[in-house]
Amino acid sequence: MRSALFGRPIDRRNPADSVKWNRYADDVLPMWIADTDFAVPEAIVAAMAERLQNPAFGYAMPDRQTREAIVGWLSARYGWQVSASDLVFIPGALPGIAMALGGLLSPGDGVAMQMPTYGPIHAAPSNWGLCRIDALVEPGPDGYGMGDLEEAISRARALVLCNPHNPTGKVYSREELIRLASICEREDVLILSDEVHCDLVYPGREHVPIASLSPEIAARTITLMSAGKTFNLSGLKLGFAVITNKELRRRFVAAHRGMVPRTDSLMGLVATRAAFAEGEAWRRAQVDYLTASRDHLVAELVRRIPGVRLIAPQASFLAWLDFRDLGLGDDPGAWLLEKARVGLSPGPEFGTGGVGHARINFGCPRVLIDEAIDRITRALDQRAV
Ligand SMILES: Cc1ncc(COP(=O)(O)O)c(C=O)c1O
Repeated sequence: MRSALFGRPIDRRNPADSVKWNRYADDVLPMWIADTDFAVPEAIVAAMAERLQNPAFGYAMPDRQTREAIVGWLSARYGWQVSASDLVFIPGALPGIAMALGGLLSPGDGVAMQMPTYGPIHAAPSNWGLCRIDALVEPGPDGYGMGDLEEAISRARALVLCNPHNPTGKVYSREELIRLASICEREDVLILSDEVHCDLVYPGREHVPIASLSPEIAARTITLMSAGKTFNLSGLKLGFAVITNKELRRRFVAAHRGMVPRTDSLMGLVATRAAFAEGEAWRRAQVDYLTASRDHLVAELVRRIPGVRLIAPQASFLAWLDFRDLGLGDDPGAWLLEKARVGLSPGPEFGTGGVGHARINFGCPRVLIDEAIDRITRALDQRAV
């Protein structure tokens, strides 16, 4: 059932609305932006088809069932009890980060962040005149560590936590989160926790929403989530913030400031409700498929491309590849795009620590992973001749 669901390629070049599949020339295999090449669960398509029966598509708001589906999901998956009224719907996690940074901080304030990080997130503080305080995500014997993050927080007004972390796939342990949360309490630091990849954690790790640690931590936390990564719904533009502190929620909502819409994506709401109400079995099957893909990717890269370094991601369908020993320059993604016709995400876009790296998206049928590895291996072999 799993390979039938996830192993069969679907046509993503037609219609030509996929950014991933239409940005590059037709002979390029795209393994970049963070969406998957999996067909969404049938329950989502059925819910959307049913909604199309009523041909009225005016401004929309979440209904009770949508809020309850999310509250139920957070309770069942993370043992995290929140109220329907704690949810603020937004067009995605990025607008939520912008709203929080712009609406809750003042120019010159410091924002601690683990680098490298997904480009639009690490660029966000400077959009609001804020100072980013970087802490490197450093590889260690047990995976990626926290580097100097605790020290960075002690100089900051806010922490932007990306958990699971993009691009490394690091899942912060409960112990790490407790340490971070206690510094944030001690230093009175606001926590913006981007948890959009949290439903795709691999066996051996668990996702802990930082706000679930205690009511006191929740009171200083804005958690950003969506069904986008888990259910491949990012084009529908719907996410939500979980904010249990009423005053913090009021200030976050006020930060819409006419730039972020106050009404929501209608089809995003329909799909999100179906995903969280009916998608758990599909999610589990997807994690099983992705776990095997991750193991396959790591084993094959190590076997076939001596010199490439990577730490198996603990979550999601992205892997962070270190090509520095292979002499492909600062931006190996550019070299591989030209010579191997594989479109990876360029490491330098992830900021400090990104040079010499590239990110691969393996959220696709395994045949495409093999094709990408074949192409990369061939290009490197030809270079050696
Ligand atoms: C960690 C992280 N946060 C946010 C986003 C963007 O989310 P959204 O489309 O909900 O704005 C991405 C997309 O790749 C991401 O990886």
